[in-house]
Amino acid sequence: MKKLLQVEDLHVSFSTLSKTVWALRGVSFDLYSGETLGIVGESGCGKSVMAKSITRLLPPISSRIDRGKIFYGGKDILLKNERQLRKIRGREIGMIFQDPMTSLNPIMKIGSQIIEGYSLHHRHVPRQEVVLRALELLERVGFPDSATRMNQYPHELSGGMRQRVMIAIAMISAPHILIADEPTTALDVTIQAQILELLREIQEKEQMSIMLITHDLSIIASFCDRVIVMYAGEIVESARVDELFHAPKHPYTRRLLNSIPRLDLPPQRHLYSIHGSPPDMGRKMKGCTFHPRCPHAMPICRSEKPKSFNIGPEHSVSCHLFDPRTARNEESHR
Ligand SMILES: Nc1ncnc2c1ncn2[C@@H]1O[C@H](COP(=O)(O)OP(=O)(O)OP(=O)(O)O)[C@@H](O)[C@H]1O
Ligand SMILES: [Mg+2]
Repeated sequence: MKKLLQVEDLHVSFSTLSKTVWALRGVSFDLYSGETLGIVGESGCGKSVMAKSITRLLPPISSRIDRGKIFYGGKDILLKNERQLRKIRGREIGMIFQDPMTSLNPIMKIGSQIIEGYSLHHRHVPRQEVVLRALELLERVGFPDSATRMNQYPHELSGGMRQRVMIAIAMISAPHILIADEPTTALDVTIQAQILELLREIQEKEQMSIMLITHDLSIIASFCDRVIVMYAGEIVESARVDELFHAPKHPYTRRLLNSIPRLDLPPQRHLYSIHGSPPDMGRKMKGCTFHPRCPHAMPICRSEKPKSFNIGPEHSVSCHLFDPRTARNEESHR
């Protein structure tokens, strides 16, 4: 499969008068053509910052890309100017953001917002044709009354409806890459299934790659090909989805998967939670960022940041337990 996007050693920070937050601390991964890559990790670990860095939509004053490269089509996105970026956004890299209200224009009708995004990049397509596409897409994202919806403003819709409008805006251009940040969080399960079905259908037809950020591990399991697990601004594990669920390696991934309630086991009074709290992203950290919460922490974990070790085809883990130099065997740490 062809590499469509390559992120290399990305570091992003935010600075305000009072403090600096190091949100991404050396993130590297590839996205292949036609694949669905899931991104999981605790709240605040940097998933949205990563998504916004790729589309260069981070707040311009407070954010800084300190280091790294993002290759798309052989060129570094970080070196492009605003005019070049506008050509890529929407048409080549589409986005569905976590907060639909801030992404929609409050004083523009829904129909115009869907049509405008498409027409900007496809001036030759007759307006009538674009309107028909918009109506069809609105129906596909669960608005049977699509003609009425076209004439409404965002404030007339519920949160879930606005999220579906965002999905229609992103899908109308059938981008090469779709970055979807919690696209179905505000939706009920039947609509959620309908949206995922639509994404899959467009993906197959157009060979679109999807980066799907979600806290819902059941969506990851059923929808993604590969998964990246993030913790405190870093990638701690990445693997094909079946391998990650059946043989998770990083102590954080194991605990994350253990925290899912299981219907096939006898009911437990207490749900499993990960002991301790996530680190303060306003601090530079020494060693492994997970070590204060890790039951297997060794002295080296406090002093040295682990490298990413390849432990199988398409499976890598950043943990000292998997360093071939470390004599200890990971099986003894389960
Ligand atoms: N505009 C900003 N200004 C300052 N700090 C920010 C800004 N945006 C994000 N951050 C910080 O960057 C870190 C990563 O945030 P991010 O939004 O990427 O988390 P996330 O993994 O998407 O979490 P969630 O699952 O809750 O959406 C957090 O510590 C957050 O406080
Ligand atoms: Mg987020």
